[in-house]
Amino acid sequence: QTTADFIRGLPKAELHLHIEGSLEPEQMFEFARRNRIDLPFKTVEAVRAAYAFSNLQDFLDIYYQGAGVLQTEEDFRDLAMAYFRRAAADGTVHAEIFFDPQTHTDRGIPFAVAADGLLAGMAQAERELGVTSKLILSYLRHLSEEDAFKTLREAEPYLDRMVGVGLDSSELGHPPSKFAKVFKASRERGLKLSAHAGEEGPPEYVWEALDGLAVDRIDHGNRSLEDPVLVKRLVAEGMTLTVCPLSNLKLCVVDDLKNHPLKRMLDLGLKATINSDDPAYFGGYIGENWTATTEALGLSRDELATLARNSFTGSFLAPDEIASRV
Ligand code: HPA
Ligand code: ZN
Repeated sequence: QTTADFIRGLPKAELHLHIEGSLEPEQMFEFARRNRIDLPFKTVEAVRAAYAFSNLQDFLDIYYQGAGVLQTEEDFRDLAMAYFRRAAADGTVHAEIFFDPQTHTDRGIPFAVAADGLLAGMAQAERELGVTSKLILSYLRHLSEEDAFKTLREAEPYLDRMVGVGLDSSELGHPPSKFAKVFKASRERGLKLSAHAGEEGPPEYVWEALDGLAVDRIDHGNRSLEDPVLVKRLVAEGMTLTVCPLSNLKLCVVDDLKNHPLKRMLDLGLKATINSDDPAYFGGYIGENWTATTEALGLSRDELATLARNSFTGSFLAPDEIASRV
């Protein structure tokens, strides 16, 4: 049995996926055509050629531009279903997906259009593919906390169908503490909390996510390893890190997958998971992330089983649902 087959056969959850980041160039052209939008690119190849990033901001600029083709509920539903088909083919049985409401409301697309479309795609995926999922609304950290509060108010009618909130976009200069009040308000509405921290930002941002936001999960968390006291804290709490190896490579967070910290994280006792982040932009879905990382770091089958188990125990599924899946 090849490593790729072994990985495909392992039931897995994906915990860090931005649905807007699953927009493949082919689909970008399809949505642009049906919505009569002009793209600055002529061909799929030209789009792919533009996906050479030297940091997070480089990527974000083109990612927000790409999201402009998403106009209707059907676009969001089709986007989600295309992701779930890929996920199912890789042996992903559960996915917790982020969406960025402000990216859409700021260009005049109502919150409900994005939310209803994604929820329809999620329901269809469960029916047709047997893949379960949860939706996480993510606040854009380059915008103000007041803007995040506005998003939380818009989300109010949907909160029974959202599992939690996240914090993404440009990390440097936008520490978690900037969003302490809106995270507290989100928690009071029964939502789980996660925040991107320690992708480009320093270990202090991870401390802030823990102490200032009281997060349930850290997205990325790579730079935690620079602070041994922080590592001890994360291990003691059993805090889940949603690590994204191919994303880290594409955004130059690591220079080579062979130097990726994932194995070191496991050796230190950290509860790491493997995720795809923005698969259409970073060169791979969950399967490619798992196989490339396994090859680069020489992960054992025991370690792969641990990673699969972490993906469920670190999920926002209810305890009885987790127990039935691990
Ligand atoms: N980091 C921050 N913001 C993001 C990312 C990421 O990896 N992907 C989509 N938005
Ligand atoms: Zn991310």
